[in-house]
Amino acid sequence: MPQGIGLPFAEGCFEGWNIAVTGARRGIGAAVARAFLALGANVFAHAGVTELKSGDPLADGLGADERGRLKVFTANLEDESETAQLAAEISAATPRIDVLVHNAGTMHGRVMTSDMTPAHYHRVSDLNAASTVAMMHGLLPALARGVDNKPGASVIFTSSISARTGGSPGSSVYSAAKAFVSAYARSLARELAPEGIRVNAISPGTIMTDFHRRYSTEEKLAATAKAIPLGRLGTPEDCVGAYLFLARADLSGYVTGQTIEVNGGQFMG
Ligand SMILES: NC(=O)c1ccc[n+]([C@@H]2O[C@H](COP(=O)([O-])OP(=O)(O)OC[C@H]3O[C@@H](n4cnc5c(N)ncnc54)[C@H](OP(=O)(O)O)[C@@H]3O)[C@@H](O)[C@H]2O)c1
Repeated sequence: MPQGIGLPFAEGCFEGWNIAVTGARRGIGAAVARAFLALGANVFAHAGVTELKSGDPLADGLGADERGRLKVFTANLEDESETAQLAAEISAATPRIDVLVHNAGTMHGRVMTSDMTPAHYHRVSDLNAASTVAMMHGLLPALARGVDNKPGASVIFTSSISARTGGSPGSSVYSAAKAFVSAYARSLARELAPEGIRVNAISPGTIMTDFHRRYSTEEKLAATAKAIPLGRLGTPEDCVGAYLFLARADLSGYVTGQTIEVNGGQFMG
């Protein structure tokens, strides 16, 4: 059982649920997908750009039962047609999606405005912002509708603390793309509420994944950790509970259009 899942999540409590998670090979997406698997869900996981390998955090040490409930897809979400194809493949694999976690994203390096190129802008925006719109468009027909008193699907986007703070120098386009994601969640929440679909975002702070191993120095991370009220950087498992909470209408059925900050107090607002 992944660390961070406590008493409220009884064994098997997601049995029969169909859950799609993008960017699930490693990092936050892997922790979230594995938690849903551990709790009994069928998980339709977009691993990332290339095939899932043994040893990848999503695949490592899964039991046969979990493996049987996991279907894995790949697609480069910077590419519009691959994103549409991914949505079509997931829809074909499951007629009903109860929870969509659209989490794939990255910064593609810190680029100062003086060095900005249209190619960098498009790459970062296409992955973090445009793919969110395309996945929603493609998967909308499969998202469960609320009927009578039965709740509909829960959609959860991964935004970022930088959507509110602006991030560090060199992350301007990434931060702006994540601000797009948070605003898009609010707007969709209104649009889809009549169908019983809730739309929210989770905004991680500084979470130790390959993301920061690539884009932040050890000195920067040590300084950040010192400034965090809870006194440490986050882990992917620190994020899991917020996704599980938003997934379940019996816990969060009156929550929509919100961005939940998961950051140890690094940003409060
Ligand atoms: N870590 C943090 O501190 C932090 C803070 C705020 C927000 N976030 C956000 O949290 C989400 C997860 O990040 P993470 O920290 O878990 O990063 P990560 O470990 O680097 O994982 C990123 C995931 O996104 C996938 N991905 C990246 N580029 C892609 C592309 N072009 N097409 C398809 N998939 C792609 C990766 O696939 P591959 O494995 O194939 O590359 C991987 O599965 C991202 O949206 C990130 O922006 C992270």
